[in-house]
Amino acid sequence: MERELRVSKIAEGTVIDHIDAGRALYVLKMLGLTGSEGLTIAVVMNVPSKKLGRKDIVKVEGVILRGDQVSKIALIAPSATINIIRNYEVVEKVKVSVPPLVEGLLRCANPSCITNQAGEPVRSRFHVVSVRPLRLRCEYCGAELSHEDVVSQLVGGRE
Ligand code: CTP
Ligand code: ZN
Repeated sequence: MERELRVSKIAEGTVIDHIDAGRALYVLKMLGLTGSEGLTIAVVMNVPSKKLGRKDIVKVEGVILRGDQVSKIALIAPSATINIIRNYEVVEKVKVSVPPLVEGLLRCANPSCITNQAGEPVRSRFHVVSVRPLRLRCEYCGAELSHEDVVSQLVGGRE
């Protein structure tokens, strides 16, 4: 008897595996994928995983991620593995990592922070205080961002 949930292998593209359970849709939204592009996309949520207990998986045919997209996935799902698939084979596997310093990707929540002043060419810089749960601290004003703040900035609001 077939007891495993199976999702077809993909021919060419990207498999984002070991996403924290429940976060696959944030990853898709951050990538700007809605389904209306016509790409073949598989989303699996809350399946058993040896490493994580439960995990989500996103498979996108015909897409190779850019570096900034990989950095953003690390902030949404710090355990994720990015697999690049060519001709049905995994040709590259990258475990994402949250860097100690996150530069230029996020806005400070403090409106009077120097990084938010019009005309100030100051790139945001956040130090990672904790990965799980994610907490970042602005280098300039000390304001903190939570994982929820980061997700809402990267996916454009949580519904
Ligand atoms: N995968 C896929 N299509 C392919 C090849 C792989 O959808 N043509 C998927 C697999 O289903 C798996 C992920 O890509 O979810 C990684 O594949 P693989 O490295 O073969 O699996 P594992 O060894 O289990 O990966 P890990 O060690 O990262 O857990
Ligand atoms: Zn700040």
